[in-house]
Amino acid sequence: MNLDKPHMTYFLQKINQVLTHPKVLKMDEFIQHGKVTCLQHSIAVAYYSYIAALNLPFRIDYHSLIRGAMLHDFFLYDWRDKNKGFRWHGFKHPKIALNNAQKFFDLSQKEKDIILRHMWPLTIIPPKYIESIIVSLVDKTVTVLETFNLFKTKFFMINQKLAFRKAIE
Ligand SMILES: [Fe+2]
Ligand SMILES: [Fe+2]
Repeated sequence: MNLDKPHMTYFLQKINQVLTHPKVLKMDEFIQHGKVTCLQHSIAVAYYSYIAALNLPFRIDYHSLIRGAMLHDFFLYDWRDKNKGFRWHGFKHPKIALNNAQKFFDLSQKEKDIILRHMWPLTIIPPKYIESIIVSLVDKTVTVLETFNLFKTKFFMINQKLAFRKAIE
C-alpha cells in the first residue's frame, strides 16, 4: 500500500495546504489513540483514504477527500479529559471539528459532509457522498489499528512518518 511518486507528490501537496495553518499543527498536541496524536491520526486517515479511493471504480474528488480527511477530527481538545466537560465526545466532535474548520478554511459541500458524517452510524444521519463513506470507513479501520498499536509494523510507520516529515518541512 505505497503511493507512487506522482500520487505521493499530489498527496503531500494537498495535505500541505492544510498543514500550513498553525491551528492544524495544534492537533499534534492532543493524543488521539494510544501514542498517536490527532494530527498523525488525521494524516493516516487522509493517506489511506486516498489509497482506498485510487483503488475504487468510482469518480472521486481527491482534493475534497484528502482535505476533509485532514480536518475530520479538528476538534482541538483532549477528549480523554472527562473533567473538562468533553462528555459525549463521540457524538459531538464532528460538529465541533466542522465549526473549527469553517473558521479557517473555505470548505466544499463534500468536505463539510466528510467532517460532519464521519462518525456514522454513531451519529444518525449517514454520509451523502462516496468521499464521506470512504473517510468514515478508513477512520474506523485506522482507529482500530492505532488503538491496538498495529501501526507499529515497519511498513505502516515508514509511510506515516515519511508523509508527516515531508509535509511539515
Ligand atoms: Fe472522529
Ligand atoms: Fe478520526
